[in-house]
Amino acid sequence: MSIPIYTYDAIVVGAGLAGCAAARELQTAGKKVAVITKLHPLRSHSGAAQGGINAAFSAEDSIELHEFDTVKGSDYLADQDAVEFLCKNAPETIRWIEKMGAAFSRTPDGKIAQRPFGGQSSPRACYAKDRTGLTLLQTIYEQADRAGVKFWDEWYAADIIYKDGKVSGVVAFKLRDMQIAIFNAKSVMFATGGYARSYKINSNAHANTGDGLSIVARHGLPLEDMEFVQFHPSGLSGNGVLISEAARGEGGQLFNSEGERFMTKYAPNAMELASRDVVARAILNEIREGRGVGPRKDAVFLNVTHLGKDLIMAKLPELRELAITFLGLDMIKEPILISATAHYSMGGIPVDIAGRARKNNTEFIEGFYAAGECSCVSVHGANRLGANSVLEALLFGRFVGKTMVSDLDKIELRKASSEDASRAEAEIAFVIGNNGDEKVPVLREELQQCMTANAGAFRSKKTLDLAIKTIKQLRKKYKNIRIKDKSTVFNTELQEAIEFGHMLDYSLFIVESAVARNESRGAHFREDFDTRDDEKFLKHTMAYMDKNGDISLDYMDVVLGKHELRARTY
Ligand code: FUM
Repeated sequence: MSIPIYTYDAIVVGAGLAGCAAARELQTAGKKVAVITKLHPLRSHSGAAQGGINAAFSAEDSIELHEFDTVKGSDYLADQDAVEFLCKNAPETIRWIEKMGAAFSRTPDGKIAQRPFGGQSSPRACYAKDRTGLTLLQTIYEQADRAGVKFWDEWYAADIIYKDGKVSGVVAFKLRDMQIAIFNAKSVMFATGGYARSYKINSNAHANTGDGLSIVARHGLPLEDMEFVQFHPSGLSGNGVLISEAARGEGGQLFNSEGERFMTKYAPNAMELASRDVVARAILNEIREGRGVGPRKDAVFLNVTHLGKDLIMAKLPELRELAITFLGLDMIKEPILISATAHYSMGGIPVDIAGRARKNNTEFIEGFYAAGECSCVSVHGANRLGANSVLEALLFGRFVGKTMVSDLDKIELRKASSEDASRAEAEIAFVIGNNGDEKVPVLREELQQCMTANAGAFRSKKTLDLAIKTIKQLRKKYKNIRIKDKSTVFNTELQEAIEFGHMLDYSLFIVESAVARNESRGAHFREDFDTRDDEKFLKHTMAYMDKNGDISLDYMDVVLGKHELRARTY
């Protein structure tokens, strides 16, 4: 059967905040655009963001302070030109999305309410109770749909069409019947989200399997700063489900088994509102040193009881529901059990401020763009501040959409043919047809346990070498998998096997990049090199995978600016 080829001006993969914002820009500029998403758009992980979106617009705050906090939070690895762009355009982004219908929580005098978040000098996170991401996602999806964007829901993007330094489409299959199609276009944007799913305890949706990153990497294209994986301080004990930083922003406190408010030891000024990497390591250290709480002594207490029922019900209702549902604990009446959870990927597809994807340190890929968590622009450097990711996704999604509009006239359409689907076809044929004796869920469990134990918030050469060895062994076992379901109707076993292949590839990028960075910076904490080394490592990692699956590393300069390097203390 011949493979259908659909032709558009532009294809966007992923329907979270970045994808919907970009697609809407393209459509309203009169371009023919399609969004391919393996989920329904409203199930995209942007909707899980709870606490807020940053913008400096109160009288006490300033764009310069927002920039300073972001650069300091990044442990000076962020590119300062990109940070400047983010912070300068944040207030207008809030007004833009509000005008399109986003209903923010308000102060008694009618202004958009803002709450304190970690590592910030001023209450800066605009919010919609504790459902900010969902509110924004509903708004931008509705507006993209209203503009006429064509959404290809429940289609799995399996490959890009990449030849001679140019991307000219996407190969995808329909989850309902596994029918393959080619989406041919002058330009493609990836907004495929993050990759914390390779950790056992994580706050991410099941869908966050880093597909976009591995698809790109398999073409020999670089991934940047993959070693920087953020651990959010407060995931529900046992399953890692997010309990927003808003709980601490509103005044929540952390205690160990001795009743000690232990952040006094780690961040005496900022306390529970130090940057995420600092608070997450403090929690894990308390647990490691035997001061954990709960039945397994693997958690600490988060107490918000002193905030009172009215505040909790008005500002944190979803968090309360989550703790009741999963732990049976009502935060109005008692402290809840939390610990650090893998949450966010600072690294990703390297792009410039306009969203154009890099082929290497100096060249760009024609017709290829990225925004949101799958990209590395880099505004977060080695550690992201809370409420800067929703901002990044919405803001860069929109501006990258504008870049694509202006670039389209300069790009010639390279006509696709059914041969362009051959890699994706071979991958599906392998997973369906292979008759080995390894089971994907078993291998995935091994990967997640390995990454949590050896490439987590604390790492060393010894643990990272072990992780590299384990991932390489898992790759060999992957060649010997077998799935039971050979059907072509919503074959989730097939989908999960393909996703697991992606997880293996990008996990190797994380650990190979981490083992070479002999310093500690932001979320990357090496027990064997426990200080920051600006002389050797004030640079971005650029990692490449060859045809044999081996990783090689290069480095790229950090864009410095007016915020000078300092020791980072909170
Ligand atoms: O804690 C939170 O609400 C998460 C927000 C974020 O990751 O930006």
